[in-house]
Amino acid sequence: MRVLMVAPPGAGKGTQSAVIAAHFDIPHIATGDLLREHVAQRTDLGRAVQEHLDRGELVPDDIVLDMVRAAFDQAKADGRGYVLDGMPRNLAQARALYKIAKDQDMTADVALHLQADDDELIRRLLARAALEHRTDDTEDVIRRRLALYHAVTAPIVDWYAARGILVSVDAMRPKERVARQILTALEAMRPLLDYVPEHARRPIDLTGLGAAFGET
Ligand code: AP5
Repeated sequence: MRVLMVAPPGAGKGTQSAVIAAHFDIPHIATGDLLREHVAQRTDLGRAVQEHLDRGELVPDDIVLDMVRAAFDQAKADGRGYVLDGMPRNLAQARALYKIAKDQDMTADVALHLQADDDELIRRLLARAALEHRTDDTEDVIRRRLALYHAVTAPIVDWYAARGILVSVDAMRPKERVARQILTALEAMRPLLDYVPEHARRPIDLTGLGAAFGET
């Protein structure tokens, strides 16, 4: 199973990627975590990117692409899939990632789009700020991260829809319900992935399912 997450800050990329990784026994590659590790260890790379993270700006594409290329090498050597959390963030990254993955025969089976309202995302990230100490979880920087998401990341959703691998989920519900819906969808798709060629795939929109079962 090869999954990548496309979602705004606070939608649950990290939370749901951990569930997917545990369920399918695949590595969870999280670009934000990798970058924060460099900052914490005060590596040269960490010093170079710290300001970008603190301000909620994207770090240069080459840096994250190199990280993901190395993580894909490892996943490929282990003969496993992946769940990629935090990448791509713009169309250039999406295209470069596709090329890296294609070269390794590791293109994504599913681009999981977690949908949630900005007000809820801000509420979640401010709640996290009270418990943890991420330097980018201040209200100003959260708003900057969201604005950047809408401006440069959200447009890639259409690119994945056109490729037929987009699966959209309503992430406004409690995390356990979101997880159950994601795992159910991925399990249903799993046996088909090897048989349905990419050009024959179609986007799947599960965001209306809650209402169909009487959820408000
Ligand atoms: P990154 O670490 O990827 O941060 P982010 O995109 O801002 O996302 P978050 O980690 O804040 O949220 P999430 O969607 O993972 O939600 P989570 O599960 O944590 O990136 C950080 C920075 O690194 C970027 O700003 C950039 O500088 C740099 N960077 C990273 N990748 C890059 C790239 N490819 N290119 C360039 N720069 C890059 O949940 C959030 C909170 O909500 C938690 O407290 C959780 O418990 C709670 N929660 C989750 N789901 C629910 C739910 N359903 N209901 C209620 N609460 C929930």
